[in-house]
Amino acid sequence: MSSAENLVFHVRPGGCLSGTLRVPGDKSISHRSIMLGSLAEGTTRIRGFLEGEDSLATLRAFRDLGVDITGPVAGAVTIQGVGMHGLQPPAGPLDLGNSGTSMRLLAGLLAGQGLELTLIGDSSLSTRPMRRVTDPLQRMGARVETTELGTAPLRIHPVGSLKAIDYPLPVASAQIKSCLLLAGLYAEGTTRITEPAPTRDHTERMLSGFGYPVERTGASVSVEGGGTLTARDIDIPADISSAAFFLVGASIAPGSDILLQHVGINPTRDGVINILRLMGADIEILNRRDVGGEPVADLRVRSAGLRGIRIPVDQVPLAIDEFPALFVAAACAEGETVLTGAEELRVKESDRIQVMADGLTALGVRATPTPDGIVIQGGNIHGGRVGSHGDHRIAMAFAMAALRAEGEILIDDCSNVNTSFPGFAELAANAGLAIEGKKEN
Ligand code: S3P
Repeated sequence: MSSAENLVFHVRPGGCLSGTLRVPGDKSISHRSIMLGSLAEGTTRIRGFLEGEDSLATLRAFRDLGVDITGPVAGAVTIQGVGMHGLQPPAGPLDLGNSGTSMRLLAGLLAGQGLELTLIGDSSLSTRPMRRVTDPLQRMGARVETTELGTAPLRIHPVGSLKAIDYPLPVASAQIKSCLLLAGLYAEGTTRITEPAPTRDHTERMLSGFGYPVERTGASVSVEGGGTLTARDIDIPADISSAAFFLVGASIAPGSDILLQHVGINPTRDGVINILRLMGADIEILNRRDVGGEPVADLRVRSAGLRGIRIPVDQVPLAIDEFPALFVAAACAEGETVLTGAEELRVKESDRIQVMADGLTALGVRATPTPDGIVIQGGNIHGGRVGSHGDHRIAMAFAMAALRAEGEILIDDCSNVNTSFPGFAELAANAGLAIEGKKEN
């Protein structure tokens, strides 16, 4: 789609969700599977890879770095690993599109390769803070530069070697943690990262799965540089962050009953389930199992009367990507929902506090942004037109709001839904959402 075209979701009000669904593969795990598979020795075969723009940006970057990758075909990808030191200089800048995870993790992974590299992104990614990764990388001896504003493009210059650091994270961020662990694979000594609160641990789990020793002690995780990765097969579970729209949609729409299959329920990602349950949601976790080192389950969700809550601050990093959907749940709940400790939401693909507050207000919901959160008063949702600001999760959250709206909801600028959830509109329509995507100029 050309950038002049605006993909608008038109969602008619009412209805409910039903049936058995499998949402696409986990985005975080998809990125990491390409990164570690590329650096491994041997052939890595992946199933369930997310064929969304973000993880495809990572895949293309490694092709540009000389890695032989076939697929994806129906979620199957095969990588001929080049080993820890086998990446080749690319012909030009690596374009990471809208993907913050690609840029921040690659900054670490590439800092010690001895290559001259430039990482670029789209207009949203080019405004997001990058000094949170480049500052600690510089402490490791890397030469990674941002613009004067601390944003992309990132320029990586070759250095002789990296040295390990002991780094307490200033924010609870899996992207910073993962960036530094990946740089730590190339550093002399032991790199130790300490988190202020638990964040997603897919990097640590996957490193262990590829045979790389990772030590965890309390809030710290450490790796020693100089090891190797051994290729393996990876079965990527469905993304709980994509399932979240259906968890909320089925909870708020009376008469709903859905089964979400094969969803990753890693305890560093399950905040959305915990928060919805505190609000009174009816979510059953069935058939728990371990799939290649990641916990997976099927989730049955039936509609329930939700009540407003004060969201526990310790759940915030565990649900960091699910707040747009959770705000819609709050708008449909009885009473007030209060979120604090979530200032990170202001530096995601959009300022998710302001953009959601504006959209909810446009739909007649009382939503008051605060510096680090929001206060939402549950009530009636009108029809209306809202902006997604090119943010995939905002677009999908407002689509679900139509299930409880009094009139049609139109959502502008929805093409970035493809970054994390290709086929969202079709899957949601099959489940009962009256959604149609229309291109406008
Ligand atoms: C991600 C970590 C989170 C999350 C992002 C994916 C990851 O970012 O918001 O969508 O894959 O590591 P932060 O770690 O910066 O909070």
